[in-house]
Amino acid sequence: MSESTETRPPANRVLPHELPASLRDAGLENWIREPLDDAVDRRRRIIMPPAAAVMGTPAGGYQGALLAEARHPDTVFMMGDNPALPPMPERPTLKDFFRLRFSKIARTHLLQSARVARENGLDEKVITACLLHDIAIAGLLSANHGYWGAQMVAPYVDEEVRWSIEKHEALRYFPDESVGYTYPDAYIDYFGPDYNPPDYIRREAEAARRHRWYMTSRLVTINDIYSFDPNIVADYDEFEDVVGRNFRQPREGLGFDGSPVAHMWRTMIWPNNFL
Ligand SMILES: [Fe+2]
Ligand SMILES: [Fe+2]
Repeated sequence: MSESTETRPPANRVLPHELPASLRDAGLENWIREPLDDAVDRRRRIIMPPAAAVMGTPAGGYQGALLAEARHPDTVFMMGDNPALPPMPERPTLKDFFRLRFSKIARTHLLQSARVARENGLDEKVITACLLHDIAIAGLLSANHGYWGAQMVAPYVDEEVRWSIEKHEALRYFPDESVGYTYPDAYIDYFGPDYNPPDYIRREAEAARRHRWYMTSRLVTINDIYSFDPNIVADYDEFEDVVGRNFRQPREGLGFDGSPVAHMWRTMIWPNNFL
């Protein structure tokens, strides 16, 4: 990164051109990183919001305006390290994603769920699944998070752990009174009292219920902490031993092992890359 200081334009104190009022009015300046002292070359960097984040919102209509902005010589799209995020090590481990990428609320939720599973004396497979179950919400995408999360960890965990992460997506909507799982109160707030899961989710849950690993996934939903208490501090290091035995960290680092899911981890390292 330091070599680029040599190619820095001489007029590095000059701020870039004014942004069009339409972009400012649309609130899109939040997606634009203005030149700051930590920017390598004083160029404005535009973050193109991903389609999945803006489809169906007013921001979805501004793709063309953002593309037009990038034609200015003092403006580029964000690629590589975003100075607003802490840099990741060259060979990132699961712990690095917990520390440097996941939001506090997501990290706390995962650690609290894993801690409860451990306090309940559950198997390490269940503790591992609890620690990872919402990893997609923490770093990638919320919709279909069980399926995304299961794929992200598939090469590194036991198949039963992967399966139970995937199936918690559907099972969490359906009570199983025989093991003390009731419909989460939080979901009444989130989705309203009249929410009905779609048919495909219903079918998935029914099939999962007949599977030999049903209880592993059910335990993920039972130990899922629906009340996020930011004041209860759970530390990742409490689970370093469990992770060591149940998560095969690739030598090259997550994102660089050439696995079929490496791109998902790279997307969390550089979430704002234009392409
Ligand atoms: Fe979840
Ligand atoms: Fe959860």
